[in-house]
Parts: sequence; structure tokens; C-alpha cells
Amino acid sequence: MFATVFLLLVTLCAQGGYGEEAQKPGHVTVVIVGGTGDLAKKYLWNGFFQLYVSQVSSGNTFSFYGGGLSPTDTAIPVLFEILKAVSCPKDLPEERCAVLKEQFLRLSQYRQLKTLEDYQDLAKYIEKQLQEEGMTEAGRLFYLSVPAFAYADIADKINSSCRPTSRAWLRVVLEKPFGHDLFSAEVLTAQLGNSLKDEEMYRIDHYLGKQVVAQILPFRAENKNFLDPIWNKHHIERVEIVLKETLDVKGRIPFYDQYGVIRDVLQNHLTEVMTLLTMRLPKNLSSHEEVMNNKLRVISSLLPLGKNQAVIGQYQAYNAEVQQELNKTKDHITFTPTFAAVLARIAETQYEGVPIFLISGKMLDERVGYARVLFKNDIVCLQNSNSIHCKPKQIIYYFGHGSLKYPAILVSKTLFKPVLMNGWKEVTEHTDVNVLGLAISDYYVQTPSKEREAYAELISHILAGHKNSFISTENLLASWGLWTPLLSSLSNAFPRIYPGGSDNGDMLDVLVKGNDITYNSEVVIISPDQMGGTSTSGFKVVRGKFRDDEMVSAWAEELVEELAKDLQDAAEAAVSKSGVFHVAFSGGSTPLALFHRLALHHFTFPWRDTHVWMVDERCVPLTELDSNFYTVYSQLLHHVKIPYFNIHPMPVHLNHRLCVEEDGGAQFYEKEVSRLINGSVFHYILLGVGYDSHTASLFPGTKEDELGDKLVAFTESPDKPHQRMSLTFSAINRAQRVALLVIG
Ligand code: BG6
Repeated sequence: MFATVFLLLVTLCAQGGYGEEAQKPGHVTVVIVGGTGDLAKKYLWNGFFQLYVSQVSSGNTFSFYGGGLSPTDTAIPVLFEILKAVSCPKDLPEERCAVLKEQFLRLSQYRQLKTLEDYQDLAKYIEKQLQEEGMTEAGRLFYLSVPAFAYADIADKINSSCRPTSRAWLRVVLEKPFGHDLFSAEVLTAQLGNSLKDEEMYRIDHYLGKQVVAQILPFRAENKNFLDPIWNKHHIERVEIVLKETLDVKGRIPFYDQYGVIRDVLQNHLTEVMTLLTMRLPKNLSSHEEVMNNKLRVISSLLPLGKNQAVIGQYQAYNAEVQQELNKTKDHITFTPTFAAVLARIAETQYEGVPIFLISGKMLDERVGYARVLFKNDIVCLQNSNSIHCKPKQIIYYFGHGSLKYPAILVSKTLFKPVLMNGWKEVTEHTDVNVLGLAISDYYVQTPSKEREAYAELISHILAGHKNSFISTENLLASWGLWTPLLSSLSNAFPRIYPGGSDNGDMLDVLVKGNDITYNSEVVIISPDQMGGTSTSGFKVVRGKFRDDEMVSAWAEELVEELAKDLQDAAEAAVSKSGVFHVAFSGGSTPLALFHRLALHHFTFPWRDTHVWMVDERCVPLTELDSNFYTVYSQLLHHVKIPYFNIHPMPVHLNHRLCVEEDGGAQFYEKEVSRLINGSVFHYILLGVGYDSHTASLFPGTKEDELGDKLVAFTESPDKPHQRMSLTFSAINRAQRVALLVIG
């Protein structure tokens, strides 16, 4: 069905739409590389169909290609199903839509785009069609809906074989992520710069296609007279840019775990909204240069973001989802944040001291996105707090979802009556709904007369060459320049674990102290019935007994805090009594959060007088990631001032071989213990519990008597690497204090 393309020449009069710029109508070739992928299926083909429908009377003609790596015979049926499902614009009569859809289907075909020859063949094919039909070429649009690592190679192939020959344009559309940090964004930019000119690149941030976001600048311009006097530090209390989501990231973890919420959403979508809200209003809104310069200016005047300007969280089930999707063992731990709240400030007199919050998270209580500018209220309401003057004064750019369900701009009636935007309608009939602390009837509300999907909107802007709706290179690098230092400072930070949904209660609430932001509750405290996760109200740390020993049960963050204190107390007591502290640490992922906490507060700990021993070790070289010592070293010892002769890795690698009985590694370690530790009594031993309930490297079934009086022994694990070296029950049981940390 798609083997041949019929070019339909639907050339009616050129008028209206976005084709009106100084672009001559002609034939437009659209190639979606990754044309059978998820994004293409969900949004792109629909968007291009809408474009086709809106362009029927523009004088342009089209052909569409879905490109991909798969061979034609498997991909054609897939593409056909996608195309069959494209939806009709709401205002298009059914019959008319059916006709246009039929045309659209006939104009579309699949091409395998793998090798340079494939791209060359495509170019030849396009040129042959143009010649045969005697058409003038308007331009070629390549939409790269593929992972970013493939961009440079595809751009190179397009450059060398698919450039239009005449004066027609070339536009290459790129989807985020555009890099992982400033450096990788620069590398990607340089690679793409070898093949494409800056004006040929269209970097998509779909938030710029959201109708409300696209309306921020025009709204500010139209209401300039009202806004000018109040758009400053004297009147603005704070700005909040928020995207709350209820879903988890299952199915996207290979991508998400490398990126996390800051890279996924804050660096791009929320930063764009922030710049539109706070940049100096351009005199000419359609001047790409002026808009870009003003955007850059505001980004560069933001105060640097460090770890005191952010709090991060991770929904509780995330770690297990990562283990499953990435095929990791049960002791794999990830620090990737799924929630972040960041406090930004602009170092300009106009906004001095105004806090700007950028907040987003998965598994929160509701799905909603908005930017809210809250104004100060200088009226003191003594009695009638219901009076309209006592209510919040705010402007809300409501992107959609949430209680309101539709996109809207809302202005508190106590502020001013805004100008109705072109193509928007006022909403006066309200249902009983509350938006951010105010009944909807307390706002002037306007909404787009016709709702448009963000991708469809942006696709029409690509055709029109409206560069303001896309991310320029300078803009991209400036944004990464802002976020990269924060991301580096958070790279090892332990996120607050939250249960998800309404169970989060107030545990993600934040508190501003000067330029810093923290969680409002210092530690999260939970109740005994927490494991089922009902409500956070009334949660407390459980202190109890387990077989006559102290037991503390709480969220990981609190446990780690308690444990760190306990360890510090023990260290100080030992050092003041005997001048030395001997501690043995376990490996695996359980103690990572503790190591991180100890490294952060290393100044107060008596590291100089501390000897660090290992509870157990895997039979791998000590420099390998799998080595317990490597974890302790890289996560803790590397960051604290401890004399190197106080560090005691287990000798699993002797005579260039791993854990051979005859090499006597276990005896050697035991001798070291006896030589340096009085009575071989460790001051402190930290144990964790593995998912099969082993502790140290003593696995279920290991009998105390099998190990005799030994303090150190070789043992066998059911998991790879099977061979281990471990302190024995005798060594552990004689320690002054044993802590067993159970997380997960
Ligand atoms: C995408 C992110 O860019 O934006 C997703 O990758 C996020 O993680 C989405 O869910 C949010 O967009 P929207 O339009 O649904 O608010």
C-alpha cells in the first residue's frame, strides 16, 4: 500500500495559517526518522496530519516518509496501523476528514533509513518525484525522533546526501535530551554543527508548544499597563513553576535512571517557563533575536545553583523498578531523583529577594502543571477573612490537567481585569472548583477558543520557520551552564524516599531560609504500620527492643542519621578511652547512605584515630566495582582524612590469584586483627542484611561450629562471585557493639 507515493497537488489559494511568512509555497518533504516509534505514534503523525489539514489551502503540497532501521516488510504494516489511527481535528466535518485522511495515507510511505545509501536513495527518489510532477521544492523537514546518540550520524547523512538542491530550506528537528550536562551538550552541538547550520536546527521543547506557555509573553505585553507597576520585588511575593505527576516511570527506566527529574523536566520545560515569565519584555515579540537575547540575559543573571538550593526525593518503589528493568541484583541502589524542588533567584534589582521555585516529581498526589505568580497582600484582615481583599492575589498560567482540566490563564479579581487574548475566550460559567487556594469565581479566567495539542502547534511553527518556539544553541548551553554545577553537587546525594501519592502527606514540603531551601520536616518520621503506607500524619520513629537489643525503625534517612550518631558516639568514647577506634564495615549497597552521611560530616568524626576493617569481601580484585572495599573506599574513605595505614582491606588477592586457601589470606587477616585490636574485640561492627537474609558473608545454613574458633574464614555465596572472605560469628559476637542496618 505504501510502496508508491501519489503526490496530490492540492493547490488552492495561498492564504492564512502559518505559511504566510516570506516563504514561497511549493512542495514540502517531511521525513520522520524513527517514524514507527512511540513519540511518532502518539504525537508526531497526528501533528503532521493536522498540519496537512491546515495547509490544504496554502498552496503547499506534501509527501511524508516514516523512516526507520527496520526492513520495509516488517515496518510497513506497523506504520499503516499508526496512520490509520490519526485523529481528525474536532472542528472538521467527518466526511471531509475522511477524504483528507485518505489523501494523507496515500502521501505517506515507509523507507528504511539505515545506511548512507538509504539516504542517497531517498534523496534521488524525492528529486525524481519533484521532476516528474514539475514541482518547485519549498523545503525538506527531517524530524529526528531517535535517541540523541544517533543525531550526529543522521545529521551527517542528511548533510551529505539529502540537502535540497534549489533554494529550498532544510529543517532538522531534534527531540530532547540535548545532552546530559554542559560538556555533553557542547560536544553534541559541535558534532551537529559539522553538518547543520544553526538556523537549520529546530530543538523541540514541547512545553513551548503548550498554548498557555506560548501565551506568556503576549499576555504580558497585552497587559503591560497593569503589570508594569506590580512586576517587581515590591509586589511579587514568589513565583512557583510546578509540574506534578501521578505516574511512575516504569517502562522508561533505561532512559530515566540516567537523567532523573532535574534533567528530564527542570533543565528544559520549567526553565523555559521561568525565562518567559521573568525576562525583560521584548519590544517586538516576533523578533527572534530580541527574544533570545532577553532570555539569555535572564538566565545569566540567575544566582548560581548549588546543593543548598535544591532538595531531592525518590519514590519508594523506584529502586525496585530499576533493579527489575535494568536487570540489576537486589542490592543495587540508585540515587536518581524522581522529585526535586529548586530555589532560584535573579540577581537583578527588579527581582531582588523574590524566590522562584521550580518543582516537579513523579508519583505525587495529582497531575497538574502551572506557573503561579503570587503577589504580596498588604491588607491585614482582622475579622472578615472571607472578604475578597484577604484572598490571595495571583496570576496563574495553568498548563492543564489538575482540578481545572483545561488550559487557562487566571487572574485574581483583586488584581485587574486582563485583556482577552486573540483566539481566547472568557470563562464565566464556573463549576464549583478551587484553583490554588481560590474559588474559580474569584478569578478572571480565559482559555483558548480551540484547544491544540503542543506537538501539532510546534509542527506548524516548524513549517512557518518560527524559531522563537524552539531552543536555540545559546539558550541550550546557557541552561546547561546553570544546571550542571547543581547536578554535579547532587550526584552522590541521597534522595528523600517518599511513599507516593497522597501518602506523601507533607513530607515533600519545603522551607526557604534566605537563599537556601530545605525540606520542611528535618527527618521523615513514620509509624509502625507504615510499611503498608497509609498516611504520614502521626508517624513516628519506633524505638523498641529486638531480642533485648535496641531497635529503631524509621525511613532510611532517619535510620542513617541515627546510625551515624551512634557510630560517632562509639568512636568518640573509644578514642577518649583507648586512643583508637576499630570499626568493621560491610559492603554492598545497604551502607551507602551511611557512608554518604559520614563523608558529608567528616570534620567532626575522629578519623585520624579510626581503623577501618572489612566485615567481608568478594573474591575479586580490590579495584573492581564489585569489591566491597572499593565501595567503602570510593564512597567514604576517599573523602575523609584517615591515615592510609589505618585502612585494612581483606587480602583476597595474594600471589596474583584470588582467595586460594594455601595463600593464607584469611589467617593473615586474623593475625592483623589480633595484632592491632586489643583482645580482637572490635569497637563497632556494621552489618547489613542481604535479600536472602545473609549477613556479613555468612549465608543461610552456615553453622557456627563449622567455622570453629576462627575469626576470619572463606565462605561460599549462592551468588556470583561465589567465593567470599568474611568475619565469622566468633569475631562478630565478641565485638563491643554490633549494628544491623536493614533497608529496603
Ligand atoms: C517529558 C518528560 O518531556 O515531559 C516526561 O520526559 C514528562 O517525564 C513530560 O512526564 C511532561 O509533559 P506533559 O506535557 O505531560 O506535562
